[in-house]
Amino acid sequence: MNAKLTTKTIPVKLKENSHYIHIGKGLFKTIASHIAKLNPGNFGIVITSPNIYAPYRKLILKNFKPGKYKIIQVVDGEAAKSKKWLFEVVEELIRANSWKRRPFIVCLGGGTIGDLGGFVAGIYKRGIPYIQIPTTFLAQIDSSIGGKTAIDSPRVKNILGVIYQPKAVFIDPDFLKTLPLSHFKEGLAEAVKYGVIKDPQLFNFLKTHHKKILQGDPSCILRVITACVAIKAKIVEQDEKETKSLRTILNFGHTFAHALEGSLKYRKISHGQAVALGMVYAANLSFNLGFCSQQPVSQIKEILELFGLPTTIRFNQLKAYQSLVYDKKFLTGRLRMVILEKIGKVRVSEAISPSEIKKTFKVLNRPFIDKYR
Ligand code: GLY
Repeated sequence: MNAKLTTKTIPVKLKENSHYIHIGKGLFKTIASHIAKLNPGNFGIVITSPNIYAPYRKLILKNFKPGKYKIIQVVDGEAAKSKKWLFEVVEELIRANSWKRRPFIVCLGGGTIGDLGGFVAGIYKRGIPYIQIPTTFLAQIDSSIGGKTAIDSPRVKNILGVIYQPKAVFIDPDFLKTLPLSHFKEGLAEAVKYGVIKDPQLFNFLKTHHKKILQGDPSCILRVITACVAIKAKIVEQDEKETKSLRTILNFGHTFAHALEGSLKYRKISHGQAVALGMVYAANLSFNLGFCSQQPVSQIKEILELFGLPTTIRFNQLKAYQSLVYDKKFLTGRLRMVILEKIGKVRVSEAISPSEIKKTFKVLNRPFIDKYR
C-alpha cells in the first residue's frame, strides 16, 4: 500500500478467499490505485447512494473513471436491499457484459450497500470479485467484515443471503466526518458489544474516552475501529460459516434487539438503539440466571448511557415475546442466546426458558430515554 505509514492492515485468513482489511485515514483519496493492485477485474460497478455521492462526488469521479468504472446510485437505507435494486445492479452487469470485460463490484456506502453489492457479487454468474469500502461507523467496524451478505423480502429482513468474502476491505475513517451523530451511534452500540464479548481493554477505552469519541477525535476512533475489526476478523477466521457457534457470540444483544424491532415494526427505534437495549436485556437475563454478577450489568448500562444510547423502553411484552418465539434461534421450546459471564467473556446457551425471558422484560419496560436524539 502507498500509505504505509498510516495504514493498518489486518488479515482475514480463511481456507479459501483469505483477504486483507486496510484501515487508514485518507485511503479513499487514492482508492483506484489500491484496487488496481488487487487486479479484481477490468470493469468495476461502483454501488453507492446519494448520501455518499453528494459529499464525495469529486473524489469518486477522480478515482472511478468512465470506461473502467460505472457508478450506480441506489436508494439510501434498508430499501436498497430489495428485489428492485438487486435487478438494477444485475441489469447493469449484463449491460457491461463483453468478452473483453471482467466485471467486479465496489460497495461504497453503509451496511445496506455492502449487503446488496456483496449478495449480487456472490450470485452473479456464481460469483464475481467485490471490494468493500464501508463509509459508516457501523459498516467499518462490523458489517463490511465477515462475508455475510443478504437482501430482504418485503416481509422478512435478510431472508436471501450468501456468505461470500470480498477481495479486500478498505476502511477510511475520514468518511465519518460527514456521518450524522445518530448514525455514528449505531456503530457505537456495536463497538460496546465488541468490548463486552471479547475485549475488556476496549470496553475501558470506550468508557474513559467517551467524550472524545463522541466529538469525533480521529485517533480515538481509529483505535476503536482497529480493535473491533481485529476481533471480528479473528472470530470469522475461526468460524467463517458459523458452524461452531463461535461466530454466534457476535449476536450478543441482537436476539432481543430483533424481537424489539419486530414488535415495534422497525419504526420507533434505530437498530443501534435496539442493540443497546438488547445488550441491557441480555446482561440482565444473565444476571437473573446466575451467570454473572450485577457489576458487569451496571457497567454495560453505564457505558451505553455515556454514549447517549437508550437503556429502557416501553414496549409490548406480548408482541416482543411472540417475535422471540418466531426467531430462528428458538429451538425446542428453549431460547438460544448469548449470555454474559463478565466484561470480555460471553458464551452461547441453548437452554433459556420462556419464563425467564418474560421475567427479564420488566427490567427494560420503562419510558424511553435517548439523550442525543
Ligand atoms: N457482513 C457481516 C458479517 O459477515 O458478519
